[in-house]
Amino acid sequence: MKRLVAPSLLSANFGNLESDMDMINRSECDWLHIDIMDGVFVPNISFGFPVLKHVARLCKKPLDVHLMIVQPEKFLNEVKALGAYSMNVHAEACTHLHRVVQQIKDAGMKAGVTLNPATPVSVLEEIIGDVDIVMLMAVNPGFGGQKFIVHTLDKVARLRRMIDERGADVLIEVDGGVNRETGLKLYEAGANVLVAGSAVFHASDPLEEIHALKNL
Ligand code: DX5
Ligand code: ZN
Repeated sequence: MKRLVAPSLLSANFGNLESDMDMINRSECDWLHIDIMDGVFVPNISFGFPVLKHVARLCKKPLDVHLMIVQPEKFLNEVKALGAYSMNVHAEACTHLHRVVQQIKDAGMKAGVTLNPATPVSVLEEIIGDVDIVMLMAVNPGFGGQKFIVHTLDKVARLRRMIDERGADVLIEVDGGVNRETGLKLYEAGANVLVAGSAVFHASDPLEEIHALKNL
């Protein structure tokens, strides 16, 4: 089964972005995960498109954009202009999720649907065949460095069953509290993509940490 690692830009050093992006480019990671927050859907604000333009210029890895904002479809063109590989929207933030998923795919990006910890995987039942990625939050979104919610392991296993039963071609991504210990359990439960912010960027050797997460 596919095992990918996506370091999260949120924990990078914005005082020396070039050096962190150079590390990412040299690393074994698969994607760079980018968290956009609006202070409404989540109680925090991160970075916006003017900053991300520089990130996109410096980063050679595919960009996995995670929108923690209300009405994410409003920014579809901006995300596309970054050259994003995937656009992840929260099911909780989209009244017309089916339409948003189609719009993302029509724009040539992989469509990701993200669920908060309290949102059951059953909300995906009617849309699972249309999405490319399902991302499960293992923390309540808004901040890096939070504690992994253990219940996510069971949720991943149930989502894996749903995907396999339908024969759907969908990657399971997990975001929040991922480290070597939780990462191994997540892979074993059926996850494909691990997002890791503080575990990578706060490690004494980020390249080695990415290597370890890739080879759990
Ligand atoms: C949190 C973000 C995460 C965050 C993860 O809302 O969506 O991507 O960067 O950080 P860690 O890996 O430190 O939990
Ligand atoms: Zn994220």
